[in-house]
Amino acid sequence: MVPFFKIEHLEKRFGGLAAVNNVSMTIGEGEIVGLIGPNGAGKTTLFNVITGVYAPKRGKVLLKGQDIAGLKPERICAMGIGRTFQIVKPFSSLTVLDNVLVAAYRRTASRQEATDAAMDILRFLALDEKSATLAAHLTLAQKKRLEMARALATRPIFLLLDETLAGLNHTEIDRMIETVQQVRERRGVTILAVEHVMRAVMKISDRVVVMDEGKKIAEGPPEEVVRKPEVIKAYLGDDYGSA
Ligand SMILES: Nc1ncnc2c1ncn2[C@@H]1O[C@H](COP(=O)(O)OP(=O)(O)O)[C@@H](O)[C@H]1O
Ligand SMILES: [Mg+2]
Repeated sequence: MVPFFKIEHLEKRFGGLAAVNNVSMTIGEGEIVGLIGPNGAGKTTLFNVITGVYAPKRGKVLLKGQDIAGLKPERICAMGIGRTFQIVKPFSSLTVLDNVLVAAYRRTASRQEATDAAMDILRFLALDEKSATLAAHLTLAQKKRLEMARALATRPIFLLLDETLAGLNHTEIDRMIETVQQVRERRGVTILAVEHVMRAVMKISDRVVVMDEGKKIAEGPPEEVVRKPEVIKAYLGDDYGSA
């Protein structure tokens, strides 16, 4: 059977630095996979290769068996891969609704359809009451939800989340965890999530992949992965047990 998503021996270099070094992984339809690793491990670069920001030097990116490596970002988005950015970047001078509309128009030319889809997503993310607010005036937590709304408006089948929880407080984190789970449950979206908040990684991930210095160093069920010595050493630090 053709896997939903698979990368094979992927490599992306910046000059002499192998930011993504011979990485392979498979993700099944409907899975939520957590991608963890210390700063500089290559997680965001991996997302950039998957979404077509960079062409890999080597390797394949297979979506339902089709190699999409090196295709343009618009093309990859149209094929159903959506993403959020680690640094939120909404169009600050546009309203919340217009921000989501820009994304929704990638799927339809009809104003009515795009507006309906955008409002539906804003309701889903509890941002509908903010639809007329300028994005610049949102709190960080609301900007993160808007980022998610914009990604969902492109109607992805596969969603890459880059540190959606960074900078949020405890309550906001719990709410976003619930949202991520609902994105899978209600919308049937498969998810690969880069996340540093371990409590969230443990809760949402069916499986965790660990990267360090460009390489995949471990993968498996969350409880097992966080106990592996190489993971503790690379990522969690010696004081994980006390955290
Ligand atoms: N555009 C770039 N040019 C040069 N080096 C880069 C670029 N983007 C990332 N890097 C380097 O690649 C490595 C991986 O970075 P990144 O993918 O952002 O890691 P992570 O998201 O895991 O923190 C780092 O050493 C980083 O400095
Ligand atoms: Mg990153």
